[in-house]
Amino acid sequence: MADIIELVYADHDWLRRQFFRLDDAKSEEELAAIWDQLSARLDAHAEAEETVFYPALLKHGGKDDPGNPEGDPEDETEDAITDHNAIRDAVRASRRHKPGSQEWFEAVLKARTENGEHLDEEEREAMPDFIKSASLELRHQLGMQWLQFYAEHDTTRGIDNRDKDADEYIAKHS
Ligand SMILES: [Fe+2]
Ligand SMILES: [Fe+2]
Repeated sequence: MADIIELVYADHDWLRRQFFRLDDAKSEEELAAIWDQLSARLDAHAEAEETVFYPALLKHGGKDDPGNPEGDPEDETEDAITDHNAIRDAVRASRRHKPGSQEWFEAVLKARTENGEHLDEEEREAMPDFIKSASLELRHQLGMQWLQFYAEHDTTRGIDNRDKDADEYIAKHS
């Protein structure tokens, strides 16, 4: 089964590992090569979730959960869009500077911090909500959509990295 939860989590794991690879990089070329892939994936991951995962969470999430009593799909989605925007902003800022420069490191650190906090929250709130609310069949269907999304966007081409308005997004998908 192509489980959306597994696929999202596998991406999170990959993103975290790539930040460690950045720590191993010695030259400007190495930093640029790793960041090129990692930053593209940060944008692609956010867009994939906004295309496949969050619309389904808004429709199907929200089952009563004693482990996440404040859990509400709209709040979870709003938090996610806000975080995705902050990550996109930092990625965009990094692209204005030369890899290895102080400004570049500052933007990368900002992306890393925002991303780290976001993954933690997503794994603590939105994903558990979906696991508890959605059928295995739906998780499989979305998993297939996720794979198709990446097949169609295997580079940064076609990724919309502009900030989104959370209220508009939620209204559109609710
Ligand atoms: Fe996310
Ligand atoms: Fe994510």
